Parts: sequence; C-alpha cells; structure tokens
Amino acid sequence: MPTVLITGASRGLGKGFAEHYTAAGWRVISTARNPDGLVGEALPLDVTSDASVQSLVDSLAGEPIDLLLNNAGITGPRGTGVAGLDYAAWAEVLQVDAIAPVRVAAALADNVAQSDRKLMVFISSIMGSITQTSSSDSIFYRSAKACLNQAVNVMSNDLKSRGIASVLFHPGWVRTDMGGAGAAIDVTTSIRGMTNVIERLGIDDNGRFINYDGFDIPW
Ligand SMILES: NC(=O)c1ccc[n+]([C@@H]2O[C@H](COP(=O)([O-])OP(=O)(O)OC[C@H]3O[C@@H](n4cnc5c(N)ncnc54)[C@H](OP(=O)(O)O)[C@@H]3O)[C@@H](O)[C@H]2O)c1
Repeated sequence: MPTVLITGASRGLGKGFAEHYTAAGWRVISTARNPDGLVGEALPLDVTSDASVQSLVDSLAGEPIDLLLNNAGITGPRGTGVAGLDYAAWAEVLQVDAIAPVRVAAALADNVAQSDRKLMVFISSIMGSITQTSSSDSIFYRSAKACLNQAVNVMSNDLKSRGIASVLFHPGWVRTDMGGAGAAIDVTTSIRGMTNVIERLGIDDNGRFINYDGFDIPW
C-alpha cells in the first residue's frame, strides 16, 4: 500500500487530496497545525517551525513516503501597487509558501528516497509565473510562488540523483477558502485532474511546472 503525506490537510485542496487517496486505498498521513478531525492518520505540523518539522521527522523515522504533497499555503494581503506594503506580512508569506515547502522536503527526503514511487509534489500557482503575469496585484503571493518555483527547480536537480522526482502544480482557480466562492472549478475537479497526472509521473518529469489538467505552464 503506497503512502502519501499531505501538508495543510485541514481544509481545501489538502483535505481533498486526503479524501482522494483514502478512497484509492493508500495509507494517508494528514498533517495540519491542528490535527483534530483530519482524514486518515493525523499528525501535527506547522510547516514554518523547525521544531514541529523535526518532531514529524522523528515520528516517521524509517517509514517510506511514496508521495510527499507540499500543499499548505497562504496569500497574505492581496492589494495592488507598492504603496504602504506590509513587509512583515510579506516575510510571513515567503516563510509559508516558499521556504517551508523546501524545509519539509529536505527533512523528509530520506523517507521519500526509501519508497517505491519517490515523488514530491509542490502546490504552486500560475500567479507565480513571471511570463503569465501582467497584473500589479498580490505582489506577496506572486513573488512567494515564483520563489518556490525556482527553489524546487534547484532542489530537484539535487534530489534527482536519489531517484526522487519533484514537480510543481497549478491546481486551477479552485473554490476553497483561498480561492473563494466565485472560483472557476470545485475541489473534486482540481483533485481529479492533479491525481490523474500524478499517477503517471516518473523521474523524466522531474522539474516540471504543470497545470491540473496536465499541460506545462511557462515559467
Ligand atoms: N484555491 C485556489 O484557487 C488556489 C490556486 C492556486 C494555488 N493554490 C494553492 O493551493 C494550496 C492549497 O490552497 P487551498 O485553496 O486549499 O487553501 P485553503 O483552503 O486556504 O487551505 C490552506 C491550508 O494551508 C494550511 N496552512 C497555512 N499555513 C500553514 C502553516 N504554517 N503550517 C501548516 N499548514 C498551514 C491551512 O491550515 P489551517 O487550517 O491551520 O489554517 C490550510 O489547511 C496552497 O498552496 C495555495 O497557494 C490554490
């Protein structure tokens, strides 16, 4: 039975992934800041905390993780322009969206390397694509996801030597707390699309930035 570990599994896409892989018969390790009520095996994890990540690593020592799903994320303030920017808020978005996924991936790389599938998936956003951006809104979130994209690109060149494939996804504009009620697609559609693509991923896909429907997204 393959094992998936999901960050930010308390709601939205993270919970959707947990429900999908439970139904598919996987061992599901759901993590969140508050582990109450999570789907599958529940473990506490604040992705911005070294101590929290270390205690997760300790509790999973020697256990293979086929699929590490780095999903937790925040948008921070979404305003337009550069007047009156809250730099502390920007630092927090960078911590959660760009630095934390690398922290979690580095900490669990041994577990992924021991597995059969050896996959790391990072939920990014098309808002992190420089090519696709002509807007002046959401500088915190856009820059954090662009930073994540390059960080994963760099890290993937290292992890590939251990047989690990790392990919980035845009999940679509999805009706979650983050995406809002007016978003284009529901969680089921996004999860069905991404999990269909994930099913077919291998080492040759290392470093790709993929839309939920399988098409590559320009950086
Ligand atoms: N929805 C969209 O349209 C959309 C589009 C593009 C990309 N994305 C990306 O998709 C991912 C999931 O988003 P979503 O729409 O499902 O958002 P969501 O409904 O707002 O859920 C965000 C999740 O991240 C968790 N989280 C936030 N900070 C955390 C921390 N420090 N440690 C651990 N968990 C933390 C939240 O946990 P708590 O419950 O503890 O707050 C929650 O489980 C994010 O990376 C987001 O950037 C979403």
